[in-house]
Amino acid sequence: AHHFMAGEELRGKNILVTAGPTIESIDPVRYITNRSTGKMGYAIAAAAAKRGANVTLISGKTHIDPPSGISKFISVESTLDMQKAVMENFDESDAIIKSAAVADYRPKDVASEKIKKSEGGLTIELERNPDILKELGEIKGSKVLVGFAAETNDLIQNANEKIKKKNLDFIVANDLTKEGAGFAVDTNIVSIIDRSGEITKFPKMSKDELANVIIDKVTLLLQK
Ligand code: CTP
Ligand code: CA
Repeated sequence: AHHFMAGEELRGKNILVTAGPTIESIDPVRYITNRSTGKMGYAIAAAAAKRGANVTLISGKTHIDPPSGISKFISVESTLDMQKAVMENFDESDAIIKSAAVADYRPKDVASEKIKKSEGGLTIELERNPDILKELGEIKGSKVLVGFAAETNDLIQNANEKIKKKNLDFIVANDLTKEGAGFAVDTNIVSIIDRSGEITKFPKMSKDELANVIIDKVTLLLQK
């Protein structure tokens, strides 16, 4: 067994974390996004940095400051921006933790001028964004890959499908129907499911505590 001094367990390891929402422009003044605030991902980045890792944080727009101690901060807007930044930083990463809430769709055409209102409704056609995590799963190799699942129903079944489809080491499944879980709160209620199908249910805990649980698991996997 390895023994490390506190704060040294991840010395020399490169950890890539994505956080926050992506936003997709409709026109120069409007966009589509989601309720992610970035808290969970920022807590993970901070926890990894505290253990000595070189942390790259790729973040959608948030209202919080990047944690101190990280090595690199890349701010992105759209899913395509995030995909580019992730791919550029993938090779040197030992572990990738994808806590970002990525927009699955983007407007097919982005109007170059502000859309003027007219009588009647407005239909905006959306097209699919790439699934960044699924693409990472295909080129993963021996890297540690961690995903999140945000669900309002069939939590375990949906999370299980995602872990397989995206070739993850483990997935943090978030039950959005529970009070004190999910977006814009300081706590979370999750189950962690690993590759073998083992499910660990956690009680409500702070996002900082959960970040440490996640980094503990990543640390163990990196020592294998
Ligand atoms: N993810 C991603 N790229 C996308 C969509 C999701 O990298 N275009 C990642 C998220 O960062 C998260 C995981 O995939 O770690 C699961 O995201 P989630 O939205 O729960 O699942 P989806 O696969 O998008 O499925 P759905 O939204 O239909 O439930
Ligand atoms: Ca999604």
